[in-house]
Amino acid sequence: MLIRYKKSYDKIAMGLLSFMPDEKDLKKLLQTKNLYETEDNWQLFLWKEDDDIVGLIGAVLDGDTVEIRHISVNPSYRDQGIGKSMVKALKQMYEGKKVVPNKYIVNFFHKCAENEDLS
Ligand SMILES: CC(C)(COP(=O)(O)OP(=O)(O)OC[C@H]1O[C@@H](n2cnc3c(N)ncnc32)[C@H](O)[C@@H]1OP(=O)(O)O)[C@@H](O)C(=O)NCCC(=O)NCCS
Repeated sequence: MLIRYKKSYDKIAMGLLSFMPDEKDLKKLLQTKNLYETEDNWQLFLWKEDDDIVGLIGAVLDGDTVEIRHISVNPSYRDQGIGKSMVKALKQMYEGKKVVPNKYIVNFFHKCAENEDLS
């Protein structure tokens, strides 16, 4: 289930964000987390599986467009459909808006869409 980020989750969120290829530098990582905490149009969510937080998805809202900037799943929980479920849940949350990926996420995003077409 997708839950909204709050400050008490900041350590786990940092850990998950750090799996993104463009968040390897600690300074950049802290800046990104700060943007999600302070900017109204930067929206961060976590994925809860039973009692564990195992995934993260973050997006930037700009008018009718929602651009996914970050998506990450704890390595122990990968290949179980959690990434795809987070994309689906985000699309449902922003129904009526155009959800798009950034350049790091584009391949995975299209992979999710392919699977949706089959289901
Ligand atoms: C990308 C990521 C979020 C996928 O999460 P996940 O929960 O394992 O994804 P799902 O189980 O829903 O989907 C797995 C499928 O996506 C594919 N996939 C994984 N990463 C992919 C990528 N970067 N591009 C395209 N397809 C990808 C897998 O090969 C798998 O395909 P299959 O169903 O044909 O076997 C996860 O691998 C991750 O956290 N990676 C590190 C963070 C990262 O690099 N994010 C940016 C790239 S999206």
